[in-house]
Amino acid sequence: MSDTNEYPHFPSDCKSLLSKYLTKEVYTQLKDKTTPSGFTLDEAIASGVQNSDSGIGVYAGDIESYTTFSALFDPIIEEYHGFSKTDSHISNLNPNDLKAPNPDPENKYIVSTRIRVGRNIANLPLGPAISNEQRDNVENQVSQALNALEGSLKGKYYPLDGMSEEISQKLISDHFLFKAGDRFLEAAGLNRNWPKGRGIYHNDEKTFLVWVNEEDQLRIISMQKGGDIKEVFQRLTDAISKIEEKIEFSYSEHLGYITSCPTNLGTAMRASVHIKVPNLSKDYTRFEEITNKYHLQIRGINGEHSQSVGGIYDISNKRRLGVTEVQCVQDMYDGVVQLIKREKELEAK
Ligand code: ADP
Ligand code: ARG
Repeated sequence: MSDTNEYPHFPSDCKSLLSKYLTKEVYTQLKDKTTPSGFTLDEAIASGVQNSDSGIGVYAGDIESYTTFSALFDPIIEEYHGFSKTDSHISNLNPNDLKAPNPDPENKYIVSTRIRVGRNIANLPLGPAISNEQRDNVENQVSQALNALEGSLKGKYYPLDGMSEEISQKLISDHFLFKAGDRFLEAAGLNRNWPKGRGIYHNDEKTFLVWVNEEDQLRIISMQKGGDIKEVFQRLTDAISKIEEKIEFSYSEHLGYITSCPTNLGTAMRASVHIKVPNLSKDYTRFEEITNKYHLQIRGINGEHSQSVGGIYDISNKRRLGVTEVQCVQDMYDGVVQLIKREKELEAK
């Protein structure tokens, strides 16, 4: 990681929120501050400085980064989430509050549904500032808690260290495992000592999975084929409450669940479908009109920074902070219903 203590250069076509809000004044005000785990401003901005195509460009090293560097984080959080520094976050993980009958019972449009949340352990640094020893301790604590799960969540923890290339590639291409070598995470210090301390837990059916020590210490995931969004949400909330019996997660009244990237704060939830909309996506402006209206984000078929294949897109909620988990899933559901409706109209023409 680079600690230059000099105002960084952003190319003129740089559109990141970092380049927008890191004025020379803000840089000067924050450049000599450090958090209790020794995290600096230069470390927080390294990813966006080294990757000028970043959308955001900043990562927190610990919960205190959000207050120590608030002059930079607050306006970024406000612009991304529409959430001001005086707002409070509210959580609602009650599946009974979700109105989501399967919008595609014939499995014509929705290939699969996945909902994940990010979590980090209370009173520890986040990934960008964690030590190797602390990261290994996270792995031990989390894998022990997971290995004790029973019933449909019962599964096994597979460390990345020692996993064959063939198995990891298969898990990645089947959409179960995170990719190695992400350049945004690399520059944020999140890939230090790779692959040690990293791994994946899953049940036999691979409908319940937990990523350990990727961008966040835990990414708790529920997924399955088809569009039964409520069943996926129910499994996730059940798993979260079982894990919370053993592990205390980092949470603040203001920012909700604490994550290393400010886009994930609050619910830390991304609820997505892989959806086939070949006709609608030909008219990309109309496609985006619908996704924008329902606060949704369009990703490609292999996750963030990937392309669509065969008219299949990853559609997920964009808002995560200042809205409840139920609302995140409801945003996705309501938008997906509209996308399917429009795709059917275009098919009929
Ligand atoms: P994250 O969801 O953790 O923010 P990514 O966008 O990189 O990260 O997605 C992680 C993996 O999950 C990728 O392989 C992606 O294709 C897969 N994925 C996301 N949504 C779905 C879905 N609805 N069905 C199947 N796989 C999905
Ligand atoms: N740091 C990257 C950027 O600014 C990713 C931001 C959102 N995605 C994420 N995985 N946290 O573009």
